[in-house]
Amino acid sequence: MMKQHWFPVLLFCICCAGVWHSCQQVRDARREQEVADRNDQQPAGADTLWHGAGVEDLPDDAQVRYGHDLVANTSAYLGPRGSVAHISNGMNCQNCHLQAGTVPFGNNYGKVYATYPLYRARNNGIQDIYDRVNDCLQRSLNGQPLDSSTKEMQAIYAYIKWLGKDVPKGTVPGGTSIMKLAYLDRPASPAAGKAVYAATCQRCHGSDGQGQLNPDHNGYAYPPLWGPHSFNDGAGLYRISNMAGFVYNNMPFGTDYQHPQLSEATAWDVAAFVNSQPRPHYNQQNDWQMRERKPLDFPFGPYADPYTERQHKYGPFKPIQVFYASNKNKTP
Ligand code: HEC
Ligand code: HEC
Repeated sequence: MMKQHWFPVLLFCICCAGVWHSCQQVRDARREQEVADRNDQQPAGADTLWHGAGVEDLPDDAQVRYGHDLVANTSAYLGPRGSVAHISNGMNCQNCHLQAGTVPFGNNYGKVYATYPLYRARNNGIQDIYDRVNDCLQRSLNGQPLDSSTKEMQAIYAYIKWLGKDVPKGTVPGGTSIMKLAYLDRPASPAAGKAVYAATCQRCHGSDGQGQLNPDHNGYAYPPLWGPHSFNDGAGLYRISNMAGFVYNNMPFGTDYQHPQLSEATAWDVAAFVNSQPRPHYNQQNDWQMRERKPLDFPFGPYADPYTERQHKYGPFKPIQVFYASNKNKTP
């Protein structure tokens, strides 16, 4: 009996092991591909990433120092109680460009001086550094632009130039954009994100998302995430991929890209929740005039594809990605 049966049983086992092994190989290959795709923007290893010079390294140059201070304490100069002008919402550039734009994957300024002026599809034109700073003033700080001749704009420019002085022209060092997280297979969920918010964000940003002013009331200890004093819906963080990537690597405050505390899915969900809340409106009708160049997660139509504004806001993004890949009518 035993003798008759052992061979087919052995054969069966070998086959199973073979199938399992090749499945494993396919899975490993897919994982490697995913990692490789992401590493296009995320060079492995901390050494290759750009780290900006800290406050202690600021040169003995009054203009650069003033520029640094304008980025770190924008509101004290340009906010509702600002000492120079009242042209912004009370937030600081540094609330989103962490440590005055020096942190890897912290939305830093490392590639700015090396890459501007450049063509930007959002504005369908060439933008210089002054234009780009004014974009953030009008959208992220929900305020008014500064003339390029002002002492303040000249100082911000000088600071950004100084920060990026060692980056060769035209090159983009690692860690100088917000990290692109892999798309989920489902829509990001504001409902799931609400629970994440209550558990991980609320203690600083408040149950109403309005943040907390500092003791001098000329800036925030914890900046607002939505509501009348936050960034408007024309701002970069209103795109869920930017919000998710920023939060994943930098929040709760104190986290960095080497120690993310949220899972990627959790970061997408909390980003969905924050961006489902009310905030000031920006007239963005002139943005992305070439519809086929709109980012997948730009939440305002019209689009060059059949998907809804809701799907463009929360996902799932993979079907939209496949649509453009197969239509070949979108320039990267
Ligand atoms: C509410 C958040 C927020 C605030 C506040 C903010 N920004 Fe930005 N800023 C962004 C985002 C998001 C981007 C786009 C990042 C991306 O697309 O990778 C950006 C991009 C930039 C860039 C271009 C960076 C690059 O690598 O191309 C510059 C320069 C800039 N901001 C300057 C400023 C200045 C100066 C201030 C203050 C006057 C400011 N920002 C305030 C969110 C903000
Ligand atoms: C320990 C306090 C703390 C916690 C917890 C925290 N944050 Fe923040 N957050 C900050 C501070 C402080 C800043 C501004 C950084 C600066 O100015 O240096 C900030 C900035 C931000 C910004 C950019 C500025 C703005 O107002 O839009 C976003 C977005 C943000 N946090 C989202 C979150 C989310 C989402 C969570 C929960 C996952 C979270 N934060 C948890 C303290 C915190």
